[in-house]
Amino acid sequence: MRIKNQMVLFLFSILLIFAFIVDDASAEYGDVVINNYSDEAGMRPVVFPHWFHRIRFRCKVCHADLGFKFQAGGNDITMLKIIDGEYCGACHNGDIAWSVENCNICHSATPGINTQVHESTLQKLIAPEAAK
Ligand code: HEC
Ligand code: HEC
Ligand code: HEC
Repeated sequence: MRIKNQMVLFLFSILLIFAFIVDDASAEYGDVVINNYSDEAGMRPVVFPHWFHRIRFRCKVCHADLGFKFQAGGNDITMLKIIDGEYCGACHNGDIAWSVENCNICHSATPGINTQVHESTLQKLIAPEAAK
């Protein structure tokens, strides 16, 4: 009986772990979540997949030429600026990369998640609310 209970507990904890992983499926290690304005505006926060971009472009392209500051949430990015060709819009213009009408590819984070650098799945498990 005791073993059976432990088994149930074990299976339950596995389920719990998956629940957290699935809950946050769109954010991977090193991704930057940007949520200065999105939530308030009723959009999902933005997930910027840093590594995906880092292997395709030099740091300088974004952090010098395009003026992105080295800080999660440290840039005052708005859709108007993006459509004007600033920040993400320097590339997401249908020329270098797919254009801005693909709202959901950028606005893909779990609603309510704070601006952060997503360090790991473990971080998510320890602090599931990402409260800091
Ligand atoms: C290439 C990525 C990208 C795409 C595509 C994109 N956005 Fe955004 N959007 C951003 C970023 C980055 C921010 C700033 C996020 C923040 O600080 O919360 C933002 C902010 C916003 C905001 C809040 C601030 C503001 O400017 O009003 C709204 C609303 C918004 N987006 C709507 C949309 C809609 C609607 C679409 C599709 C038509 C869209 N976005 C497509 C990246 C994108
Ligand atoms: C395609 C554009 C792009 C490229 C290329 C890029 N970055 Fe970033 N980086 C960003 C954006 C966007 C942010 C988040 C800024 C924000 O939230 O406003 C960021 C954030 C950062 C941060 C702060 C967050 C963190 O992870 O601690 C650091 C440090 C950083 N980048 C370093 C680098 C380095 C080093 C390279 C080259 C190996 C690089 N970046 C290449 C766009 C880029
Ligand atoms: C220097 C150019 C450049 C900048 C700046 C840039 N991107 Fe991208 N991004 C790309 C390219 C190229 C792709 C790949 C497009 C493709 O696969 O057709 C891409 C793909 C993506 C993807 C999809 C990743 C995947 O797994 O397929 C997301 C999400 C994204 N960008 C978000 C953003 C956001 C948010 C910003 C601004 C904070 C941004 N990008 C700024 C060039 C850029």
